[in-house]
Amino acid sequence: MKQIIASLLAVALAAVGPVVAFGHYQTSQNEKKQKAEEKKKVKELMSRKLELSHKLLTAMILNDTQSAVKSAKDLLEVSKDPAWQSLIPKDRLEEYQIWSDSFRKNIRKIGESAKENNLDGAKMGYLEMTHTCFNCHTYIRDFVITRLDKNDSAKTNLFANR
Ligand code: HEC
Repeated sequence: MKQIIASLLAVALAAVGPVVAFGHYQTSQNEKKQKAEEKKKVKELMSRKLELSHKLLTAMILNDTQSAVKSAKDLLEVSKDPAWQSLIPKDRLEEYQIWSDSFRKNIRKIGESAKENNLDGAKMGYLEMTHTCFNCHTYIRDFVITRLDKNDSAKTNLFANR
């Protein structure tokens, strides 16, 4: 009897094993797919950010306050998209948010100054914003990616050639 139970059990396990393994395989494939999609979204968002900052520069050069107000508004929206911070590890989010906040503060300064036709204020805001572009990227390169390099293969595009 014991033997029959043992062999029944063996048959059952043999049947269940591959199903469980396939389940794991599927989960990891889904995770990979999700990560790839997330990266694609981030890339699109960051290109849009670059495009809008170019538009802002053009508006500043041409003293086009209307266009500056519009691009500042769009750039602010970009920084509020969930993809803006989706690649940042949890333990780095707090610092990342400090850079994001200062980025948004500078953009608001551009928008508000442009609305009041204060071109000097808007230009100053633009310079300060650009400074934040550099600072945030330096922060990510020096602190976030170094950590990712060690623990994770999820390197982001900006720093892929390191
Ligand atoms: C609060 C942080 C932060 C600020 C501020 C910031 N960025 Fe970024 N930027 C990122 C992150 C995160 C990425 C994604 C990194 C990646 O995909 O490798 C990125 C990616 C980029 C990329 C894409 C690089 C690539 O390899 O595809 C460009 C271009 C870029 N940023 C330009 C700018 C410009 C221009 C500004 C200022 C107007 C700016 N960024 C401000 C965090 C920031």
